Amino acid sequence: MSFKVPKGTQDILPGQTEKWQKVERVIRDLCNVYRYNEIRTPMFESTELFQRGVGDTTDIVQKEMYTFEDKGGRSLTLRPEGTASSVRAYVEHKMFGSADQPVKLYYTGPMFRYERQQAGRYRQFVQFGVEAIGSKDPAIDAEVMALAMDVYKTLGLTELKLVINSLGDKETRDAHRAALVEHFAPVKDELCADCQSRLAKNPLRVLDCKVDAKHPAMATAPALTNYLTADSATYFADVKKYLDILGIPYEVDPNLVRGLDYYNHTAFEIMITGDGFGTITTLCGGGRYNGLVEDIGGPESPGIGFAMSIERLLLALEAKGIELETENNLDMYVVAMNEEAKAKAVELVANFRKAGITAEMDYLNRKMKAQMKAADRQAAKFVIVLGESELEQQAVNVKTMATGDQQQVAFADLASFVQANK
Ligand code: HAM
Repeated sequence: MSFKVPKGTQDILPGQTEKWQKVERVIRDLCNVYRYNEIRTPMFESTELFQRGVGDTTDIVQKEMYTFEDKGGRSLTLRPEGTASSVRAYVEHKMFGSADQPVKLYYTGPMFRYERQQAGRYRQFVQFGVEAIGSKDPAIDAEVMALAMDVYKTLGLTELKLVINSLGDKETRDAHRAALVEHFAPVKDELCADCQSRLAKNPLRVLDCKVDAKHPAMATAPALTNYLTADSATYFADVKKYLDILGIPYEVDPNLVRGLDYYNHTAFEIMITGDGFGTITTLCGGGRYNGLVEDIGGPESPGIGFAMSIERLLLALEAKGIELETENNLDMYVVAMNEEAKAKAVELVANFRKAGITAEMDYLNRKMKAQMKAADRQAAKFVIVLGESELEQQAVNVKTMATGDQQQVAFADLASFVQANK
């Protein structure tokens, strides 16, 4: 019997984890600079939260949730995304009452969607996301987009395209909805079963359908942009103005609708350009969700945010041949020639580590040559070889591996020597 990771999940092994840590450091540093604070919410929530928050007619809620009943008979769902949970926490902990508004949150953690497996699409994936709740200033829409772009830029990914659209306000949506129903009514029978029910419940979702994407009525469907109210159009113009001020290029795509129900006004995605990975080109998605806080039982608090998966970010870096500089540095490898030297090696390695110096030694009783090879493989900066004479003199030659230079240092001074020269 052999066991494998469940379909759509992956083990992240040493060698890869350093890249994840690097990405996580960049994220934390940038969030600090932009003044977003971390929130950690449970991996599962009541199923109803996502039905209400993400929306009953979305693919996520209809097809992709990992829903189960616990022993107490409650229906729970592994979170498919982080916005609904963040908003739930915002309401539950009355963060709307905090003196610092808007409340700027970020999170990183696993999300779960039962999706068809393909490159860049996993059933467990890690999202980094931010949510700015409590402001409807178009400048914060631009800030949120700038932060997402900054993450990629800092990691060296520049072949990117920011695509934006406005989904307008409720009035816009109602007018557009009526136009969509009218447009698709004559061809209703030619659409897939899902779309037929979407047409009744949430016609905007029809535009998002993968099955009917090529139906001729899709291309001629009324664009939401034509139904923008004056206020919505002004809001969108202001968002663009602030993006211009920030020097962030963007493209407007009137067909960008996004797959979650809570959006209005600004919607955006960041796509990889040129060579991507398979058919997936979207690295990040987000938008404004005025009204979601009320839907979840809080007071009027407009919000905006985005999420990106670390998996897709790393795939994009790989597709572009970008190597991340990772931190896995060995300062000192201590080679021991015999039993007595080994006892000293144990002591010295412990001393190095106490001084914050990364240190390693052999635990397989290998010959000196094999120990030297191990030091090489691990790219040790310095190596010392302990034998009889070193023990006698209480000093050892410290070899700098990059140059081959050697310098004699007393045991007692080793840690400070390495500190000063590493
Ligand atoms: P979303 O578009 O569903 O939006 O997902 C955002 C990002 O999560 C995608 O662009 C992609 O990077 C990643 N992602 C989604 N599904 C998968 C998957 N199966 N495998 C790998 N990566 C995936 C949201 O989740 C919203 N909560 C974003 C948001 C936050 N809007 C406002 N605030």
